Amino acid sequence: MQNFSYHNPVQIVFGANTIAQLAHLIPQQQRILLTYGQGSIHRNGVYAQVKKALPPHTVLEFSGLEANPRYETCLKAVELCRREKVDFILAVGGGSVLDGSKFIAAATLFEGDPWAIPTRQAVVERALPLGCVLTLPATGSEMNGFSVISRDEIQEKHGFGSPHLYPRFAILDPCTTYSLEQRQVANGIVDTFVHVTEQYITQPAQAPLQDRQAEAILATLLEEAVKVQAMPQDYGVRANLMWCATQGLNGLIGCGVPQDWATHLIGHELTALYGLDHGQSLAVVLPGVWQFNMQRKQAKLCQYARRVLQLSGVDGTELAGAAIAYTESFFRSLGVKTRLSEYGIGTDAPDRVAQRLQARQVRLGEEANLGGEEIAAILKMRL
Ligand code: NZQ
Ligand code: ZN
Repeated sequence: MQNFSYHNPVQIVFGANTIAQLAHLIPQQQRILLTYGQGSIHRNGVYAQVKKALPPHTVLEFSGLEANPRYETCLKAVELCRREKVDFILAVGGGSVLDGSKFIAAATLFEGDPWAIPTRQAVVERALPLGCVLTLPATGSEMNGFSVISRDEIQEKHGFGSPHLYPRFAILDPCTTYSLEQRQVANGIVDTFVHVTEQYITQPAQAPLQDRQAEAILATLLEEAVKVQAMPQDYGVRANLMWCATQGLNGLIGCGVPQDWATHLIGHELTALYGLDHGQSLAVVLPGVWQFNMQRKQAKLCQYARRVLQLSGVDGTELAGAAIAYTESFFRSLGVKTRLSEYGIGTDAPDRVAQRLQARQVRLGEEANLGGEEIAAILKMRL
């Protein structure tokens, strides 16, 4: 196992009717900015619950954060925070609202060009404190210090992180997720699944505990995904999906093990250029990354095939291939398409994406074996 340092300061408040606890969680006498998205929280009653729970001191609002939150929109909230001397941000929504709010929290106290933050040319050394009420299980943003921001005018999407960006608390009420469209539920399951595999389908690292923690999340997702389609109003199923998502990217399963993240970084380019949902982009790219890295990842693919998918067979390319095929059909069973052509994306996409990543001199994968040529080859397998 590799050396690691792990610190997670997020207070989790989980369960039905927990939004009311906001009253005790938000520091008193502070100027709060309530941030949210395009209006789902008005339609499903979450906004009303939040307003009822907030203490009767100054609460400002900023709405309109988009899915894949836009830099340009976040900057308007930064202006508001500075002008109104906001002390605390309360983000209410999915991963995009949380991520946008993290960027706003950092940019408000940042001197210089804020684009340096998502492009990682600047380290975030301080940020306004924030808390969140999560309404879409997927990203794990509620219990990590990461954020992903998109800048439309140059079609770029970048992730960044800082210990200063962990939420102070996260309220996870599974009832808030009943109103999700099936597409978002499916995207969330794919996203969680791929967060886990980015930290698990690598090379064996003498980390049996982390392996089994990852396998537990994957096996639970496979079971609950079937149930949520049959019983979308079942509290237990929604609760399990929510807790899986939080556990998938709160850092724990990644302690001391190699991590891949190639699928995510290639996927971000597909979202930036072609507008795919985050979950859709991952469902397209993941089978290609695995197929291309079949030899390097074979031992873990076979372990996954046996322990999670319950496939039988001798370790080798056949069993690893069966695991890849199974995973792709799992995504398809959720209604998520897995080919570029199914999203109307043309044959020039592989080279276009590869050139962008190559221009930034990135090398992807846990062994940094993927440069421009390899990334193009992966995407050509996904046309
Ligand atoms: O904007 P509103 O009206 O709230 O609608 C949203 C949005 O249209 C809607 N929604 C959210 N909760 C709902 C709901 N609709 C009905 N009922 C509810 N309870 O769902 C739509 C999608 O929301 P969004 O927040 O964009 O989805 P998600 O949580 O999947 O977040 C995706 C973003 O997170 C980033 C992605 O790149 C993408 O930008 N990620 C963040 C990570 C992190 N911070 O650690 C890691 C991830 O890998 C990911 O990259
Ligand atoms: Zn993700």
